[in-house]
Amino acid sequence: MRNLTQIFGLFLLLSTTAYGSFNLYLNEHETMRLLGLSAELYYVREGLINKYALTFTVPVGENIRDIAFTWQSLAGRPLPYKINIATTDPVVLPRPQLNISRIGEMPQDIQTFAIEMRCSGVRAAEVDVTISIEVTLNRATNNVTELVFTRRKVCLQSDVVEDHTDDTTSHTNIAKPPNAIITLIVGGILAMIVVAILISVAYCARGPSKRKPHLSQPVRTSSFQRLQTHSSSLAPSICPTNATLPRSKCSEPEELHRRISEITVQRCRVRLSSLLQEGTFGRVYRGTYNDTQEVLVKTVGQQANQTQVSLLLQEGMNLYGACHVGILSVFGVSIEDHTAPFLLYASDNNTKNLKLFLQEPIARTLTTIQIVKMSSQLAAAICHLHAHGVLHKDIAARNCVIDDDLTVKLTDNSLSRDLFPQDYHCLGDRENRPVKWLSLEALTKKQFSEASDAWAFGVLIWELCTLAKSPYNDIDAFEIENYLRDGYRLVQPLNCPDELFTIMAYCWAVSILERPTFQQLQFCLQDFYNQLTRYV
Ligand SMILES: *[C@@H]1O[C@H](CO)[C@@H](O)[C@H](O)[C@H]1NC(C)=O
Ligand SMILES: *[C@@H]1O[C@H](CO)[C@@H](O)[C@H](O)[C@H]1NC(C)=O
Repeated sequence: MRNLTQIFGLFLLLSTTAYGSFNLYLNEHETMRLLGLSAELYYVREGLINKYALTFTVPVGENIRDIAFTWQSLAGRPLPYKINIATTDPVVLPRPQLNISRIGEMPQDIQTFAIEMRCSGVRAAEVDVTISIEVTLNRATNNVTELVFTRRKVCLQSDVVEDHTDDTTSHTNIAKPPNAIITLIVGGILAMIVVAILISVAYCARGPSKRKPHLSQPVRTSSFQRLQTHSSSLAPSICPTNATLPRSKCSEPEELHRRISEITVQRCRVRLSSLLQEGTFGRVYRGTYNDTQEVLVKTVGQQANQTQVSLLLQEGMNLYGACHVGILSVFGVSIEDHTAPFLLYASDNNTKNLKLFLQEPIARTLTTIQIVKMSSQLAAAICHLHAHGVLHKDIAARNCVIDDDLTVKLTDNSLSRDLFPQDYHCLGDRENRPVKWLSLEALTKKQFSEASDAWAFGVLIWELCTLAKSPYNDIDAFEIENYLRDGYRLVQPLNCPDELFTIMAYCWAVSILERPTFQQLQFCLQDFYNQLTRYV
């Protein structure tokens, strides 16, 4: 049995059947109003009908009084149409009014028409509105396309319609009741479609929008235009940059040796207490250093070969020197015994692996607020790395730690291949890679950039929301490339608010220019966090 991702995806592909020649869509303004996304949603694009999008019932909030459609005939002449609107409860919601005639011709110029839904206010109810639009493509052959849309209008009792305009200005956050955020959690699946179908992405990069201030960004000049290659010059950054990080490549042996010699500790000062994790050769222990400092110790067993040993050291040294509250980097190393080096990490407050933590029953009590906060902490950490010219290249829950206060930190990926073998795959070559966290260009061309880190970060937020489910669980690693190329992405997790999912989804844009920078991610997450906590 294939999962929902694919079923939805298949719908998207199979249901686009060619008919007639016209466009029918929700324009950007409308999509923003109904779904909180900056995009156009096409039901019919150049005659191709997106049947799946049609099957979805779009909720219409109580403060939205009319909904709009945009259309345009591409047939070289106006196309005759007929519109019929029915509601399931005419008492609560009398027949909605159109601002174009019910029978007429779809013009060759772009036209937007509105359907006014005015609740009577007699009582509160959700009323389904069915809008059927028949477009006659050819009178001679009686070739008619019928499109049926369903909207679910929320009506409140004695709805003070007159006091509301559905203009964006009435939706400032100050006016929002706390549960307005919940109201926004409309059809996650639809958000998914919207993202999948089209989307000229301009999310955080948009100018300040009144409706969703958290989607705007602080510095208007830095849009999604970004450096594709990593600039070695230290770009000015709004991220906290209170420490320096050696920028030279750790893969150079001299640099690696220099770093190791700087932090070599005497092995006799390290005491191991309990084994936390064990792979085929790698181990993570809890222990103490100098009898006082609590530490996590990464080491390898006797059976590890020289390659595995040097990989442990090399990857373990990658974040060396990164001094940031959101980063757990190695502070001590022992290579006295060359067959089994030790890497030491400061462990406060019961530091444990984030992925393992998420899979524990206790993690089920995590709230959206906590998840957003954790994401925001990690975004700040990665921002710090990027500001110092360091790419992580393996951002995932398995490479983070969390403590008892739910403070999360990003750490290096040493031993992860061994400790989480199910997360790494070899695709024909001998290289074991985190295929399901890689962006398309990292997967196919081994191109890494800040944007490929952003992609992986999107998967990491998804892991937080799903409590570390395995991404694309039923897709074979070999199929991932085609799957992503065809436009499929991870599905919106249950209980994941649209705001958060939208942030993830933008991390998965095919074009690296359209993915958000970590400054933008940090800003969006922080802002969403502020919104969520405003009423708490
Ligand atoms: C209706 O018109 C479209 C486009 O002109 C054409 O592709 C389709 O086959 C026609 N259908 C019928 C039943 O004639
Ligand atoms: C119908 O109303 C919508 C929204 O108020 C407006 O944008 C549109 O121009 C109107 N269309 C016509 C044909 O008057």
